[in-house]
Amino acid sequence: CHLTVSVSVLQTPMKKTKDLIGNQGATFVNAFTVVPLCCPSRSSILTGRYPHNHQVRNNSLSGNCSSPRWQKGPEAEALPVFLNKQNYQTFFAGKYLNQYGKKEAGDVFHVPPGWEQWHALVGNSQYYNYTLSVNGKEEKHGDDYEKDYLTDLIVNRSLQFLDSRNPKRPFFLMLSPPAPHSPWAAAPQYLKEFSNVKAPRDGSFNKPGKDKHWLLRQPTNPMSNSSVSFLDNAFRKRWQTLLSVDDMVETLVKKLDSIKELDNTYIFYTSDNGYHTGQFSLPIDKRQLYEFDVRIPLMVRGPGIKPKQMLKAPVLNIDLAPTILDISGVNLSAVNVDGQSFLSQMVSLARPFFLIEYTGEGHPTTDPACPKLGPGLSECFPDCVCEDAYNNTYACVRTLDGQNDMQYCEFADSESFVEVYNLTSDPHQLENIVKKVDPVILQAMNQRLIKLQSCVGISCRGKASKLNSTQLLQFQVLGFGHIGSLSKWPAFLKHVNTTGRA
Ligand SMILES: *[C@@H]1O[C@H](CO)[C@@H](O)[C@H](O)[C@H]1NC(C)=O
Ligand SMILES: *[C@@H]1O[C@H](CO)[C@@H](O)[C@H](O)[C@H]1NC(C)=O
Ligand SMILES: *[C@@H]1O[C@H](CO)[C@@H](O)[C@H](O)[C@H]1NC(C)=O
Ligand SMILES: *[C@@H]1O[C@H](CO)[C@@H](O)[C@H](O)[C@H]1NC(C)=O
Ligand SMILES: *[C@@H]1O[C@H](CO)[C@@H](O)[C@H](O)[C@H]1NC(C)=O
Ligand SMILES: *[C@@H]1O[C@H](CO)[C@@H](O)[C@H](O)[C@H]1NC(C)=O
Ligand SMILES: *[C@@H]1O[C@H](CO)[C@@H](O)[C@H](O)[C@H]1NC(C)=O
Ligand SMILES: *[C@@H]1O[C@H](CO)[C@@H](O)[C@H](O)[C@H]1NC(C)=O
Repeated sequence: CHLTVSVSVLQTPMKKTKDLIGNQGATFVNAFTVVPLCCPSRSSILTGRYPHNHQVRNNSLSGNCSSPRWQKGPEAEALPVFLNKQNYQTFFAGKYLNQYGKKEAGDVFHVPPGWEQWHALVGNSQYYNYTLSVNGKEEKHGDDYEKDYLTDLIVNRSLQFLDSRNPKRPFFLMLSPPAPHSPWAAAPQYLKEFSNVKAPRDGSFNKPGKDKHWLLRQPTNPMSNSSVSFLDNAFRKRWQTLLSVDDMVETLVKKLDSIKELDNTYIFYTSDNGYHTGQFSLPIDKRQLYEFDVRIPLMVRGPGIKPKQMLKAPVLNIDLAPTILDISGVNLSAVNVDGQSFLSQMVSLARPFFLIEYTGEGHPTTDPACPKLGPGLSECFPDCVCEDAYNNTYACVRTLDGQNDMQYCEFADSESFVEVYNLTSDPHQLENIVKKVDPVILQAMNQRLIKLQSCVGISCRGKASKLNSTQLLQFQVLGFGHIGSLSKWPAFLKHVNTTGRA
């Protein structure tokens, strides 16, 4: 049994979540999305594949976001389909894919395969005045907090699902609140919280992106006062909306405890991308290759996971589906995923390097609000600072193995721009070292990038280091000591048992 909750990278409003998930299990301090934008990232979470394999490139229907091609292809082989075949009761509530439920995307009638209970938001993030597809039927909502506030509605529906479940079958719930995405509508009781909080002023905040690709060289530096107050307000409002997500996690953990399923359930807490507020003088958004946009939170508790672990090996959003399938006992070699299960990371298995790839979004015409700018740009607010463009298209290879924490990125723009960072000496990516670094390293990174950009399945994974048998034994004893039903054991525990290594 499992449960997935999606939210933001910020920890401070999430005190209960940290306590109930992180402190009771594993916190992955190096978790990344392979693409820092909603629809492609969510498609990666659902399929366990890189964007170049699921082919969802942006948030538009023409970029395959919830498109007929996606529905016919990757969606039909996504996580819930396999779980349902493993006899799991499956439940989804919240934001799915940005174009979901639109007429051209099959309307609210389209319920993706594998989900037994479906309560999905039509379109992009909302807190009030939204439409849901409830098992294929349209359900409209207004703006009465008690009846309609989406974060609360999601958790309420999940409680009803748990009450009506068949206790003999395992379950999978995916709760996907839009919070802390804009339009940042906090619950009434939280509207006054964090009144003194501002976006952090550390790292690359309000620094010029002078040695970076052209888009980063455009913003005014220092930022205008109006940009600063805009981003501070955004930061505060995001924290306010997260307080309801923190309540959601608490409510669920209490519920699982009261129905005696807490010790038998894996709980994952993560997000689809990071976010920036003022870094390199970019007011607000994601979509960039820098740490603040590509890192995501990830905490997991569940059977066999020792409390208070801080795990350092890198894990990716494309690993979520294989990990969950691994727990459910699916034979992963029969599933078309690029990611790898991180269940075994409890026993230390690290990936050597990985890919991050992004296709920039733009508008074909000049934004009338910013007549001085040309076409091809997008997200040009506030103050006509553009956060995206068609040529903000890049691919990066990242190594993160204890000794080497390096990032190498190539842009598909007219400068074929390259950015290289040594994250060990420069954690805030202040200095692009492309002109200083040993050309042998550049060449090796370029070769890895070329291979990863066309990788499929196993060729996306690299060679993992060997299992440590002492740790394996401990994990196995822990697992077998406390859990009731074989069908819910991680597949590799079963494997250990049958080979008699333990
Ligand atoms: C959308 O997906 C289909 C296959 O599923 C692919 O042929 C097409 O190139 C994709 N579109 C884009 C813009 O990547
Ligand atoms: C919801 O829609 C109504 C009617 O259009 C509008 O008056 C109200 O301001 C909206 N509420 C929110 C929170 O957007
Ligand atoms: C959720 O359930 C709680 C407790 O029953 C109730 O107070 C609240 O109004 C409900 N909210 C929504 C949006 O359904
Ligand atoms: C911007 O804010 C700074 C610091 O609060 C202040 O010193 C400065 O006068 C402001 N500039 C404008 C143009 O309002
Ligand atoms: C998993 O699938 C592969 C490929 O189909 C097969 O060779 C292997 O025996 C299977 N493993 C188990 C444990 O069933
Ligand atoms: C999304 O991708 C499609 C296909 O490449 C492209 O036609 C469209 O302009 C993109 N949308 C945006 C907003 O960039
Ligand atoms: C990127 O695209 C924009 C808008 O089309 C253009 O103005 C700019 O010169 C391009 N920059 C590079 C480096 O390709
Ligand atoms: C990165 O920085 C660390 C710490 O300063 C240094 O030991 C290492 O050699 C650097 N790596 C490269 C490739 O420059």
